[in-house]
Amino acid sequence: MANPFRFGQVVGGDLFCNRTSEIKRITHDLAGGQSIVLYSPRRYGKTSLLQAVSEKLKANKILYGHMDFFATNSKEKVVQAVSRTAAQVIIDDLKSIEKFIKRAARFFTRTRFGVRFEPGDSGSFTIWPELSPQSSSFDSLSDALAGLNSYLKKTKKRAAIVFDEFQQVLRVNSNFEAEFRAIIQQQDRIAFAFLGSRMHLLQDIFSNESRPFYNSAKLIELGPIALEDLTKFIKARFKKIGVSISGEVALGIATRAKGHPDYAQRVCSHIFDVLESNRVTEEVVKAGMSRMLVSLTASFAGVFEELPLRESQVMTILTEQGPIATFPSKILQQYDMGAPALHKALANLVKKDLVRRGQDKKYFITDNFLAEWIKEVLKSGGEPNISEIL
Ligand SMILES: Nc1ncnc2c1ncn2[C@@H]1O[C@H](COP(=O)(O)OP(=O)(O)OP(=O)(O)O)[C@@H](O)[C@H]1O
Ligand SMILES: [Mg+2]
Repeated sequence: MANPFRFGQVVGGDLFCNRTSEIKRITHDLAGGQSIVLYSPRRYGKTSLLQAVSEKLKANKILYGHMDFFATNSKEKVVQAVSRTAAQVIIDDLKSIEKFIKRAARFFTRTRFGVRFEPGDSGSFTIWPELSPQSSSFDSLSDALAGLNSYLKKTKKRAAIVFDEFQQVLRVNSNFEAEFRAIIQQQDRIAFAFLGSRMHLLQDIFSNESRPFYNSAKLIELGPIALEDLTKFIKARFKKIGVSISGEVALGIATRAKGHPDYAQRVCSHIFDVLESNRVTEEVVKAGMSRMLVSLTASFAGVFEELPLRESQVMTILTEQGPIATFPSKILQQYDMGAPALHKALANLVKKDLVRRGQDKKYFITDNFLAEWIKEVLKSGGEPNISEIL
């Protein structure tokens, strides 16, 4: 029997739970030409949400393109990715690579497009931009987006383009920020959705007055999924394979994951792996949870070990004290930590998105399973033997 849960990858269809109001709101913005910034902690479902939005946009005859800058770590790769995406939007609309190749020179003045055969399972032809070596990255980027924009003008259409993990682009070259801003500003038929999980970086790009993208897009934070919806989702997925789970037990999973959809699916996937009957009990949930934490140990240990001493101490204090607005001096004394060291460590942790400050001004660890993991390490005085502890 196939596992009815998926994690760590884009999900759609039956594997996608709710987000109805977010889909509506973002579709409305992008369809109306309003660019947005969508940020959240890791794996809250930004990419999956935009995929769901893309279906609505297409139904509204709005063209759609998506590009992920996660691994684009050179100037050339960035330019290639943008050019390919711009071309792909037009190809999707024309439903033909040949037609696109014939017409491309009308819209793109610097870039020529060829076709490459991509060997692979199915083997397919894909579009390949041949960038003019004399052109600067600015000129090539501008050509790609202006080319798409002029196609849209000509056909009286609009498009939405997703720049996923957008903050990565700015690491590649410091000029990109001003260049992208200047180019994007001129495309009156394209709305952009900037996505990213480096929340701090992304917020700064768009809300710092001294930066080029200041106030240029609507900032939207993607929150957790409502516990009630996530509970229904968990029940329905188990039901699909003939496994029953009570509302209470399913709610327990959703609550423990704090509405984080990836963690909820991750736990459930592990539960499926250990399931020996057709009913999910509290015992099985515990076993699934323990397997999940074991599987996350390497990545959590990596994060924790990399932290400078002061930052790891602050993480420890936050783990033990729960969300707090002020750090009791008695506790800081135990670590020989003065106020300046505390503030510096806190600021760094916030920058790294490991710690957040809630609206109630209290600091907390962003990833509650990382916090749970640290708690277990502290209890056991070393590497945790999670399966025994839980
Ligand atoms: N609406 C949803 N319903 C059910 N599960 C979801 C939903 N959204 C996200 N998930 C879960 O979260 C996982 C990650 O989703 P996705 O890749 O879309 O998140 P992301 O925020 O783009 O992640 P990243 O921070 O890595 O870019 C999915 O594999 C799935 O398990
Ligand atoms: Mg993503």
